[in-house]
Amino acid sequence: MLTRKLLAFSRRRVMTPEPVDLNGLVLETTHLLRPLIGEQIELETRLAAEGTVRGDPSQLEQVLVNLVVNARDAMAAGGQLRVSTANLTVEPGPLGRYGFVKPGRYVSLEVEDTGHGMDEATLARVFEPFFTTKAADKGSGLGLSTAYGIVKDAGGYILADSEPGRGSRFTVLLPWSGELAAEAGTRLAAPLPQAAAVAGLTVLIVEDEPAVRLLIRRILEREGHRVLEATDGEHALAASRGSESAIDLLITDVRMPGIGGPALTRILLAERPGLRVILTSGYGDDIAGGGSGPGAPLFLEKPFSPDQLVQVVREALATPPHDLVPDAPNA
Ligand SMILES: Nc1ncnc2c1ncn2[C@@H]1O[C@H](COP(=O)(O)OP(=O)(O)OP(=O)(O)O)[C@@H](O)[C@H]1O
Ligand SMILES: [Mg+2]
Repeated sequence: MLTRKLLAFSRRRVMTPEPVDLNGLVLETTHLLRPLIGEQIELETRLAAEGTVRGDPSQLEQVLVNLVVNARDAMAAGGQLRVSTANLTVEPGPLGRYGFVKPGRYVSLEVEDTGHGMDEATLARVFEPFFTTKAADKGSGLGLSTAYGIVKDAGGYILADSEPGRGSRFTVLLPWSGELAAEAGTRLAAPLPQAAAVAGLTVLIVEDEPAVRLLIRRILEREGHRVLEATDGEHALAASRGSESAIDLLITDVRMPGIGGPALTRILLAERPGLRVILTSGYGDDIAGGGSGPGAPLFLEKPFSPDQLVQVVREALATPPHDLVPDAPNA
């Protein structure tokens, strides 16, 4: 079911545009985000759009994740979240809400919540980098500016409407790029690879980005594994030392403040011989400079698709335990 580059990262990557079925993207993302959204929020999806847009699926995914996470944050006490897609034709002329939008055919993606809303001063600044009304450990103020950049790169627009106490609505307009080819639909609906699955193992994930951590967790749980999570090297050590069961696999970011991925790997391997390791990084260099050959940890470059994650995990679990750890540049 999941074949898009689904994991969203705060770093912007080079865009590789392709036809994207927004309906499929919404279904996959909201499904994976369901636990993050929480039980007290009612989620409704209305997927009326026909046809595709052109963009980088993992980046568009990130736009949606950022909007949904904001909506969730605005509804701490619960509420309704609606994610919808539709077709829209903007006619020439200075009229109404889409007055500044270049005339043409668009697909809209709307995220609406019934949360606390925004006053005019906040609304005027939402797309500014580093603008946040959240506590320092809760928000960096980059979610919407990142979304804005991605949407702009894809030739689109992003609009926000809100009133204090009356919820918020974010509308993304992306140029319509064509009918949904049978092929695009097939790719979105393609099943996960079936080869060589092992289930029932325990995986420790070390990743500071909550949305990424959650998505990795969901994918691994669907594979039938038990997941322990940590936000950094220190917490990973504590989680490992506090876990009485075996840990079969460590998936860790290479670059982290404090104990980096390779150093963490060395410590944990000493404490848990037999541990398998996958190092992830958004910097190709880390991976190029890493080890190779039998016994070396596997590397997974970000952003990766669920398929790629599943494949690397299966590969890691199918190979003998590692005993060799490379020195990475920023450990
Ligand atoms: N759905 C919403 N309802 C109410 N306020 C919102 C909503 N979405 C965004 N905002 C306001 O816009 C600000 C900026 O949002 P943005 O996503 O850019 O940053 P953030 O959520 O604060 O931090 P980050 O996304 O980096 O974790 C938020 O702090 C909040 O004040
Ligand atoms: Mg945000």
